[in-house]
Amino acid sequence: MSGPVTLRLEPLGQALTLEPGSALRDALFPRGVEFPCGGRGLCRRCRVRVLEGALPIGDEDRRAFSAAELEAGWRLACHARVEGDLTLEVGQWETPILADDTPFAFVPAEGLGLAVDAGTTTLVAQLVDLENGRVLGVRSALNPQAVFGADVMSRVEHALAPEGLRRLRDAIRAEIGRMAEQLAAGASRAVTRVVLVGNTVMHHLFAGLDVEPLARVPFQTQQDGMQMFQCRELGWRLPGDPAVAFLPCIGGFVGSDVLAGVLATRLLEGDELAGLMDLGTNGEIVFGSRTGALCASTAAGPAFEGGRIRWGMRAATGAISEVVLCDGRVQCRVLGNAPPRGICGSGLVDAAAVALELGLLDQRGRLRACGDAWQLCPPVAITQRDIRELQLAKAAIAAGVRILLRELGAQPCRVRRLYLAGAFGNYVNRASARRIGLLAFEEERVVPAGNTALLGAKMALFVAARDAEAFDRLRRRIRHLPLAADPEFEEIFAREMLFPTG
Ligand code: FES
Repeated sequence: MSGPVTLRLEPLGQALTLEPGSALRDALFPRGVEFPCGGRGLCRRCRVRVLEGALPIGDEDRRAFSAAELEAGWRLACHARVEGDLTLEVGQWETPILADDTPFAFVPAEGLGLAVDAGTTTLVAQLVDLENGRVLGVRSALNPQAVFGADVMSRVEHALAPEGLRRLRDAIRAEIGRMAEQLAAGASRAVTRVVLVGNTVMHHLFAGLDVEPLARVPFQTQQDGMQMFQCRELGWRLPGDPAVAFLPCIGGFVGSDVLAGVLATRLLEGDELAGLMDLGTNGEIVFGSRTGALCASTAAGPAFEGGRIRWGMRAATGAISEVVLCDGRVQCRVLGNAPPRGICGSGLVDAAAVALELGLLDQRGRLRACGDAWQLCPPVAITQRDIRELQLAKAAIAAGVRILLRELGAQPCRVRRLYLAGAFGNYVNRASARRIGLLAFEEERVVPAGNTALLGAKMALFVAARDAEAFDRLRRRIRHLPLAADPEFEEIFAREMLFPTG
């Protein structure tokens, strides 16, 4: 008989010894992993991903996961037995996906609606009762296109290869279709409409449109209007075969996720100037009021998501998410109350703000008196290169803001409210963001707004019921400004690389 086997659990890095054939559930439950549906294979909350070793695919796994997810190693822990050495990533310990439960005003419509936020990394769908606005169910999944590249530019590159566009189109359609069918299963009424939002690349890939114009300057495409389908032509089996609308992009890399954000924040309804920002690898910025709006996208790079940072990681268990000064001493908060294993975007912004306060960092971004790295919370350190990456990211955003406000003839103090969309915007400390020169706005005017794309998609379900042309009218009120073509961009960007003197 074979001896004990080793089970390693990531991202916490725990290792335990088990007898072969042990139920995975019995090993995970004492470590705080929950099994919300009692192990009936219905909720997927117990999912784990095989990083090393093997877990055979069972019938429950086939029902719960798409082919791409199974291939990526996802399994249900509630049905698995450990037969050999194994390293697993535990889904519950990873990054929470931002859904939305914000109440909003609506005019009731018939049937059920499905709102989908098609993100580059994650897909989130909500089933909504259009008679009372209640959310009846939520599904989220990893975007299966991620196996072809993590960011939009690598997806564009893959789409340009033979068969690449078809592969990416089919992968995202199949995954969203599966989520939609699961949400609609057992519903007593028909789904009457489906609204999808996403960035320009997701819009093109879902529709199967040529992405070649998005691969070169000036990154403009003529095919960015609303895309309409019937469920059946997408291969989705939903009762009533509803129409599926992928909302139009605004321009360049500013997609319908931002258009939905404009809808969600009512940016074009107020008399005073307001802004919306989504800070990711690609930062999207809109400023506007009742009289119209201006928007831009700016390549911030992956620093806000922990990319290209020595100890960088997403906001998941083990990530330093906050750094504060307490009686002159540096204190770090780690997500999940776990030992630190990296630092996420919000932690990095805090760390730079604290380093500026302590005089460990100068205005040009040089780390002083700590060699090439500042030992923040062992083993996590901040290196000189990390600071450069952060400077590039914050300068790209700050320069975009300056140019949009210059075009509008406004100073930052005229912006009455700035909505921050997305996960990073939700968690970044506003005082730290101001201290490092990322956001030049008074803290009380900066409002974390959550998943505005999903909220806007839900609101769009009700608008679409009355007036399908409304989205084209809305996007025509927002002018896209290509920053790369602005003669002052380089100079403003170089200036914004500096940290404020405090
Ligand atoms: S506990 Fe619900 S699917 Fe495993």
